[in-house]
Amino acid sequence: MNMKNTNKPGMKYKKTKPPLQRQVTTLWDYPSQNYGDKMQGNQNYIGATPSYIIWNLLDRYTKEKDLVVDPMCGSGTTLDVARDLNRRALGYDVNPTRDDIFRVDARKLPLEDQKADFVFIDPPYSTHVNYSDSPQCIGKLHADCNEYYDALRLVITEINRILKPGKYMGLYVSDSHEIKKGFFPIGFELFEILREFFIPVDIIAVVRHNKTLEMGNYRKAADEGNFFLRGFNYLFIMQKPDKVKAVPPKKRQVKKASPYKPVNKSKVDTDKQSGQNQPTKNQRARALARQKKREAKGL
Ligand SMILES: C[S@@+](CC[C@H](N)C(=O)[O-])C[C@H]1O[C@@H](n2cnc3c(N)ncnc32)[C@H](O)[C@@H]1O
Repeated sequence: MNMKNTNKPGMKYKKTKPPLQRQVTTLWDYPSQNYGDKMQGNQNYIGATPSYIIWNLLDRYTKEKDLVVDPMCGSGTTLDVARDLNRRALGYDVNPTRDDIFRVDARKLPLEDQKADFVFIDPPYSTHVNYSDSPQCIGKLHADCNEYYDALRLVITEINRILKPGKYMGLYVSDSHEIKKGFFPIGFELFEILREFFIPVDIIAVVRHNKTLEMGNYRKAADEGNFFLRGFNYLFIMQKPDKVKAVPPKKRQVKKASPYKPVNKSKVDTDKQSGQNQPTKNQRARALARQKKREAKGL
């Protein structure tokens, strides 16, 4: 997105924010963490959600007085945006950063069934950020293990429980890449879990403006190491089925198991020979990766 240069000749170049408006394509971009003159949430909170994302969701999917819930509220961006738009808001976090956020584990929300008109959530992406010392912090679980996805499945189950039928939720997340551990498609894995409960409305790619993307040493490492820096986040927009209108997602074949279950190699071989129950391409790739790891460790 272009930013207007309103500076006079000779002045040091200063970027100005474009006006806040509805995003209309599936590629969202805004060059600032906050809109307007005030801060929403705290831009110094590592991992704070850019507020225009939440503004866009609430502007489209809620109306005045609706109840908006953020089960992992961090610095409170959702609360501030919701109040800007005259929505009621509830924020939870295992590490509350301000008085209007309740200390709660998002796997057990203290809210009755079907009370929320909208839920926004921006969970930890693997172990990239050390949010707090709380042992309940899901950011202590690495995306290479079942526990991370199992924990987020419980959070998604709770979101489904508190959301009113027919209403919407947004989950903002990034995949993960680590030089030594490789790539983890967190977005795809969480989308699969979301689909067990919700109807997909759309998938948005949100341009990341993190400083590290511009840093020479990061860019050089990605170039020379033949990997990619995370240029976008996913924003999954989902709708809870309305009993009357929606097609229940149950009609589809839903995979209930966690994505990182160990693969039984002998079963894969037997199935291959018999030509039945062939593992999917994905399962084969994962099994191969695990086998290589074991071989590298000399097991
Ligand atoms: C990416 S940050 C959220 C940022 C937030 N949207 C903002 O704009 O500031 C993820 C948050 O999840 C919280 N969290 C991690 N595990 C949690 C759990 N089990 N229950 C509730 N919150 C949790 C962390 O403390 C952290 O504040």
